[in-house]
Amino acid sequence: MKGTFYITTPIYYPNDIPHIGHAYTTVACDVLARWHKLNGEEVFFLTGTDEHGRKIEQAAEKNKKKTMDFVNELIPKFKDAWQKLNIGYSRFIRTTEPEHYAVVTEMLNKSFANGDIYLGKYEGNYCTGCEAYYTEKELDDGCCRIHKTKAELISEETYFFKLSAYREKLLELYERVPHFIMPHTRMNEIKNRLKEEIHDLSISRTSFSWGIPLPFDNKHVTYVWFDALANYLTGVDYPGENYAKFWPAVHLVGKDILWFHSVIWPAMLMSAGIKTPRRVFAHGWWTFDKEKISKSRGKVINIDELIAIAGVDAARYFLLRETTFGQDGDFSTEALLKRRDADLANELGNLVSRTLTMCEKYCEGKVPAPGTLDAEDKAVIAKAQEICKKVPEEMEAFNLSGALNTIWELVKLLNQYVDKTAPWVLAKEGKTDKINSVFSVLTEAIRITAVLVSPFIPETGEKILGQLGLDGKAQLGQGYEKLAGWGVLAPGTVIKKGAVLFPKDKTNAK
Ligand code: MSP
Repeated sequence: MKGTFYITTPIYYPNDIPHIGHAYTTVACDVLARWHKLNGEEVFFLTGTDEHGRKIEQAAEKNKKKTMDFVNELIPKFKDAWQKLNIGYSRFIRTTEPEHYAVVTEMLNKSFANGDIYLGKYEGNYCTGCEAYYTEKELDDGCCRIHKTKAELISEETYFFKLSAYREKLLELYERVPHFIMPHTRMNEIKNRLKEEIHDLSISRTSFSWGIPLPFDNKHVTYVWFDALANYLTGVDYPGENYAKFWPAVHLVGKDILWFHSVIWPAMLMSAGIKTPRRVFAHGWWTFDKEKISKSRGKVINIDELIAIAGVDAARYFLLRETTFGQDGDFSTEALLKRRDADLANELGNLVSRTLTMCEKYCEGKVPAPGTLDAEDKAVIAKAQEICKKVPEEMEAFNLSGALNTIWELVKLLNQYVDKTAPWVLAKEGKTDKINSVFSVLTEAIRITAVLVSPFIPETGEKILGQLGLDGKAQLGQGYEKLAGWGVLAPGTVIKKGAVLFPKDKTNAK
């Protein structure tokens, strides 16, 4: 084993079924988890649901259900969505689990004991949609910038967490760990905001009861974010064996909740004497047909709808390829189908299909031993090897879209190589030596392509390996170093050309 890797999604509010925005973060985490596994690391991948707070309580009231019943009915929808999207999480955490109560209670007790929590009064604005406190400056005409609804004025006795006491320590953390917040532009935004102003954080509410009671004053329930963030510790059984093995975590979040993860969460951990996370990466937001995702305006797409358009792998591929990871993106059915047809069907699918068809025809359906390799063949091998070195660097920087771009350089090059070498002409001319070289290079380079795409489109990766006559699952367990080497596919391996990988006419899109 080459070390451990712990990655988390935000825990989602189960106030409705998951949509494409939730799918995005979850798929991206799944890709990173699969990548690190491929790399031989022991991986823990946590996702789950954030079940307390006023927002959930209100949603249940609106549906005329008891809060716990309401939430219990929604959890299977999340699990089902993740299963359909081929998400291989290690644990699904729910903040209503008793283990989680214990962790939150312990964190509160620690901070209370060291004087970081004190009683006061909060008077100000609150957006229940965000479950966040806002200053006047952060609102537009008293309205939340995300939900466009009036923030509620609240005036309550509350316990505060001394967030302001951590300003210098946080700035030091960002200096000490230069990739703590990524992308780096986001790091600067956070630093500037932190330098401008930082208030102590209200961490308890008295006006409702759907939450974890404060251990030192049970009239109060814990502020839902203080409760939710601690899930990352509960998820690895803090302070147990998994915690010792996997902590600190890498958190992947949407840009909307970066402040909570890169400021409040590390401060909470510092206060409790626990190591800060390894990295927080904030990705951009998706719009739908250029509009904000919104259920009320019908600008939303759920997981079943997303998959129905072009299948699971096309959806996963689209989400990570269409937009630079870290920046905003726009979803449309047309754009997804275009990617499926151009990149997946025409480029990748066609490459595999024509190579294997010709391999059956000209090489008796077996991987040939190479003939004498000429400059043209060697250039393809060199490029494949270069790409095998570049992709890990991009994955290390969480440049998921960049990694896919790089992999597609290889896919495009291989298609050009087929066109240029024109094996059908070589066959007519009886140039067996060159034919053997071409199909030896192509099958091996396709094997490498399958390995590289497998974290992104796992089903396709395995299918391609299967068509090359290999056991996909067993192959992928062998570790990246071995798999990225040249000459792994043994001459004589019988290929098993299968069905078309991305049939273009398949769509149930409305
Ligand atoms: N419960 C909190 C998170 C607590 S983590 C300790 C929460 N939940 S949420 O259900 O609102 O999910 C927010 C996350 O969903 C975002 O950070 C992002 O990861 C994802 N997205 C939701 N809508 C999105 C888009 N429109 N585009 C991209 N991602 C989005 O906040």
